[in-house]
Amino acid sequence: MADRERFGKLAIIMALAGSAIGLGNIWRFPYIVGEYGGAAFIIVYLLCSLFISLPIFISESIIGRRAGQSTYCALHSLSRGTKWKWLGLVAVAGAFIISSFYSVVGGWSADFMLRAGINGFSSSNPESVSTIFTAMSTSVWEPLLAHTAFLGISILIVVLGIKNGIERFSKISIPLLFVLIVVMMVVSLLLPGAQDGVEYLLKPDFSKLSAKGISCALGQSFFSISHGVGAVLTYSSYMKKSQSILSTSVWTLIFDALFAIIASFVVMPAVFSAGLKPGAGPALVFESIPFIFAKMGTVAPFTARIVSTTFFFTIVVAALTSEISMLEVCVSQLVERMRYSRKKASILVFVAAWIVGALCSLSFGPLSGVSIFGNSIFGLCDRLSSNYFMTLCSLGFAVFVGWKMDRVQVKEEFTNNGTLKPSSAIFNVFYFLIKYIIPPVILLIFFTNLM
Ligand code: PFF
Repeated sequence: MADRERFGKLAIIMALAGSAIGLGNIWRFPYIVGEYGGAAFIIVYLLCSLFISLPIFISESIIGRRAGQSTYCALHSLSRGTKWKWLGLVAVAGAFIISSFYSVVGGWSADFMLRAGINGFSSSNPESVSTIFTAMSTSVWEPLLAHTAFLGISILIVVLGIKNGIERFSKISIPLLFVLIVVMMVVSLLLPGAQDGVEYLLKPDFSKLSAKGISCALGQSFFSISHGVGAVLTYSSYMKKSQSILSTSVWTLIFDALFAIIASFVVMPAVFSAGLKPGAGPALVFESIPFIFAKMGTVAPFTARIVSTTFFFTIVVAALTSEISMLEVCVSQLVERMRYSRKKASILVFVAAWIVGALCSLSFGPLSGVSIFGNSIFGLCDRLSSNYFMTLCSLGFAVFVGWKMDRVQVKEEFTNNGTLKPSSAIFNVFYFLIKYIIPPVILLIFFTNLM
C-alpha cells in the first residue's frame, strides 16, 4: 500500500489522544469519581489503565501498523483463511454503534454551548435551570437538529482525509483542549468553597470502592482510551514505520488520564462550591453544571456567560475528536473493502449513523416507551457497545496478538525490528500480560458484569 497516507509523528499522538479524550473524560469520569470515592477510584483507574488498557491499546496498534490496513482487512490479511476477520467486523459494528449515540450526546453539548452563549443559563431561579436538560433531551426537533449538525461537522472532517482532515483538526484541537481545560480548572478552583472539592478528590475513600467500582474503573478506562472498536487499529495503520508504538501509546495514555483528572478538578470544586452532591450521576454535566453557572450568573452574569460557553465548547471539541475516529473506522473500511471513494463511503456512513442516532435521540422522547430487553434504544446501544463489543473485541485483539500472531512479528513491531533500545525488556512484560493475564481478567470482569 504505497500510496497510503501517513500521520506525521506528532500528529498520530494528537489523533490518538483526540480519539481518547472525549465525553468519557469530561462527562463520565468526574461523575463516576464522585460515585466511587474520589482519589481511591482514580488510583484504581490509573492502575487498570497502565496494566490492562495500555497493553491492549498496544496490541491493537501492532495489528494496525503491521497490516497497514483498517480493521476488517487488517485481521483478514494477517490471518488468511481463518475466522479472525469477523473480529474486525464486530469491532467496526461497535464503532458504528458508539458513533451513532455519541453524536446525540455531542449534539446535546453543542446545544448547551449555544444556550450558554445566548444567555449563560441566567435565570432568576437557578434551580429551574436543571429542568432545561430534560425538556431539551425529551423534545423531538432540537436534539435531532443538534445531532445532525454534530455528525455533519464530524463527517466533513473525515471526508477531507487523514492529512487534510483528521491530522489538521487534531493538531489544533488537542493543544486547544488542554489550554481550555486548564483555564476552566483555574476558574473553578477560585470559586468560594472549592477547597472541599479538591479535598474530596485528593483524599481516597476506599470504603466506597466496591467490586462494582473496580469493574467500573476498568470499563471506564477501556472506553476512555478507545480500544476495542478498531479506532486505535485504524489510526495506527496510518502510523509511520519508524515511530515507536510503545511511546505513542504511553503518551496517549498520559494525555487521556491527565485530561480526565484535570476535568475532575474543574467539575468537583464547582459542584462543592455550589453546595451540590458529588454523586449526581450522568446528570452532573447537563444539570448540576448549568445550575452552578446560573448561580454564578446572579452575581457576575457576563463572566458566567463566558465561562459556561467555554465549558461546553470544550466538551464539543473533545467529542468531535472522538467522533471522527469512530467514523474513520467505518469509512476506511468501506473504502478498502468495497473500493468506494472516500466521499461515497462518508455519505453512506453519515446516513446510517444519522438514522441510528435519531432513534437513540427519540428514545428520550416519543420513543421512550420502546423497551428492548428492558433497555431504551439509547440504553441498548450504550450497553451493547460498552459492555459487549468493546470488552469482547479488546479480548479478541489481546488473544490475536498473544496467541495467533507470530511472537517474532509482534516483537518486530514493538521494537521496530530491534532498533528501539529499552523495548526488549518491556516487550517481555507486555507479552506476558497480553498472553496470560489480560484475557482471564477481561473474562472475569465480563462475567461479573453479566451477573
Ligand atoms: N474515548 C472516547 C471518550 O472517552 O469519550 C470514546 C470513544 C472514542 C470510544 C472512540 C471508542 C472510540 F473508538
